[in-house]
Amino acid sequence: MTVNSLSKNQITTALTERATNSKGRRLSPESLLAMTDGKVDRPPLDALAGQSILNPRQFDRRTVVAISQLAAMLELRNVEIDKPLDGKIAITAFFEPSTRTRLSFESSVQRLDGKVLSVPDGQVTGIAKGESLADIGEMFNTYGDVVIMRHPDTDSIDEIRRNLQRPLINAGNGSGHHPTQALIDWYALLKWRPELSLPNCPPDRRVHLGIIGTPGSMRAVKSFLRLSLMFAGSVERITLISEMADPVGLDLTEPIEESPIPIDIVNDVQDVLPTLDVVYVNSIAFLGDSYRNLDNRFKLDASSNLKSDAVIMHPLARNDELSEDLDETDHNLYFAQAAGAVFVRQAVLTAVLDRLSRISGI
Ligand code: CP
Repeated sequence: MTVNSLSKNQITTALTERATNSKGRRLSPESLLAMTDGKVDRPPLDALAGQSILNPRQFDRRTVVAISQLAAMLELRNVEIDKPLDGKIAITAFFEPSTRTRLSFESSVQRLDGKVLSVPDGQVTGIAKGESLADIGEMFNTYGDVVIMRHPDTDSIDEIRRNLQRPLINAGNGSGHHPTQALIDWYALLKWRPELSLPNCPPDRRVHLGIIGTPGSMRAVKSFLRLSLMFAGSVERITLISEMADPVGLDLTEPIEESPIPIDIVNDVQDVLPTLDVVYVNSIAFLGDSYRNLDNRFKLDASSNLKSDAVIMHPLARNDELSEDLDETDHNLYFAQAAGAVFVRQAVLTAVLDRLSRISGI
């Protein structure tokens, strides 16, 4: 494997100054980079130049780990001085509400000296007058260098790409996918337990992953599961806990059948909960063109029968399925998970916009 080295004096640690989550576990980017002596695996990142990021199936394990290594480096270093996105314009086009995704993308771009054109609500565009997404895509070709779009329709990706020639980052398309959320989820897991990044993860460090949700209707859950299937050897078993009889959906039927990871589907959480190392939970589902809560009869709170060292992940926003009384506990990985978003999105944008060479030391 070709890697480029990051010398120790180039890793400017500013732990006391670094903004992080206020509650729950704090994660250490150093521990992930220590697995490769501070090195970032560059070739899979170079391969992302000019690419759209649409579906997690376009990644492989090596790329996910490389993006996480770069994110860890960006989290540790003051890369603002390199101005890696200087002269680049990102368009964030959000036709559906968002707290984390739009703002963390915009923060990522601005902290790297790029500029943002923000559409926080599709109704301020010609959509309100009947304009098509395909025509909007045509306009975006001259307005920006990369487009980050969220839309409630699963087929919105195909529609805007009829004319769009710039790289498109799918920030959530209906019940489709949310690929950068899944990268953020795995970045949190790899910081939490860095041995999971190794092709030969020691057996006693492998995890039993539980997913409370319905991947077929929940894009974040679906994308997380899709990436998790790439970590055979690190994930020893996956248990899906859903109130639906067939929660998987068409997209993932084949990858699940082909995966060497044993996967169970159960309808109740009580028996399996004490066996899980990681519990990924979500309740917001897309059904048709609107969202509603599914699986929210499975509630986690501080009295839940969790393993003492189990961690809980959630893409957020949460509803009643995840009690605030877990926030102050060590089970809370979800705030640290969200806190990593800016660095993962910086890594993705720097690679897609072919500006890795502007970051000194990789
Ligand atoms: N995780 C996530 O997609 O959050 P937002 O809906 O706030 O963007």
